[in-house]
Amino acid sequence: MLNPRLQLLSEYPFDRLRALLGGIDPPSGMAPMVLSVGEPRHATPPLVHDVVSNNGDLWNRYPPVEGTAEFRSAAVGWLTRRYALPDHLLDADRHVLPVAGTREALFLLAAVAVPRSKVGRRPVVSMPNPFYHVYFGATLMSGAEPVYLPAARDTGFLPDLAAIDSATLERTAMMYLCSPANPQGAVADLAYLKYAVRLARRHDFVLAVDECYTEIYDRQPPPGALKACAALGGSTDNVVVFHSLSKRSSVPGLRSGFVAGDPRLIEAFRRLRSFGGATVPLPVLAAATALWRDDDHVEQNRALYRAKFDLAERSLGNRFGFFRPEGAFFLWLEVGDGEEAARALWAKSALRVLPGAYMAQPDAFGVNPGAPFVRVALIEDLASTEEALRRLLKVL
Ligand SMILES: Cc1ncc(COP(=O)(O)O)c(C=O)c1O
Repeated sequence: MLNPRLQLLSEYPFDRLRALLGGIDPPSGMAPMVLSVGEPRHATPPLVHDVVSNNGDLWNRYPPVEGTAEFRSAAVGWLTRRYALPDHLLDADRHVLPVAGTREALFLLAAVAVPRSKVGRRPVVSMPNPFYHVYFGATLMSGAEPVYLPAARDTGFLPDLAAIDSATLERTAMMYLCSPANPQGAVADLAYLKYAVRLARRHDFVLAVDECYTEIYDRQPPPGALKACAALGGSTDNVVVFHSLSKRSSVPGLRSGFVAGDPRLIEAFRRLRSFGGATVPLPVLAAATALWRDDDHVEQNRALYRAKFDLAERSLGNRFGFFRPEGAFFLWLEVGDGEEAARALWAKSALRVLPGAYMAQPDAFGVNPGAPFVRVALIEDLASTEEALRRLLKVL
């Protein structure tokens, strides 16, 4: 009765975590702290409440798939200012589409980008290893063969694109990249992104660059794939980027983001989403428009993360291979055995963290590159983060 591909989705990381910690009670009298999920918990910018309530008369309207002209132009305005793009690189009506969070969009894009076959063979979708699990789910449900590109410390936690063999590239229908990367926070520089764009064009695949952490950075604003397109002459062919307010504005509950890039892909995506995509309600789009137009709340948000990384740096020093990530808000700690550490942290200190193995697939030698790690999301306030680090150090 069920699509057999669904069985391939049994590895959802948070289901595995529930199973791992299922029989374990955290110490009584210790408040549980959930740092396993990348759910930003900073305060919601007040303008969200105001704009949603001022647009309350729009709840009785179906939102159009393409959103509003104001939203699309706010998205283009932000992209242009954030990446210092040439003024006319992006046309708000052709290059941008709102989405109800980028998770859904990252998943659905595979249905647009993956053909039945490529060069007469089964198509490939490649992704970094470790990866954000949605790439994995989208690939498996699309029928493509997943190819996991090693992204460990020796390659700066990013895939070595020059190491992909030409037979794989020929069959590649789509490549997911993530910068800043979840979980390690590595940032792809402009040369890397240009190389990726050229590769996508040479082998005619879709380059899907997940940039949802691009505003959560430590020192330098990370470049983006659209900047690489500008540097290569201005065409957005083969490229699509994903942006979200969830991390930028700490509003994961708003479910609002957008995709931007190659107009052929955007139009195909619009068509697909007309049939089966969740549209973004008009009051939410109005709030999202206001958020993309404002950078001050983002600077404040970033400052809160910096303060937490300062704290982590002071308390962890060089233990567990600690490094200060260039972007995103995770600690990627090498603890020996990530599952064992996650169990101990829950049992002894009521800290819930994600074993790195749940974000990765075994390599050609059967070794899961995430297995020695845990991912700790620094999503709580400063005082709670201090408490969490104290507990973590006591247990590990
Ligand atoms: C790498 C990455 N991409 C995309 C998302 C999805 O974010 P949203 O659907 O809230 O836009 C997340 C959320 O955790 C993420 O970590």
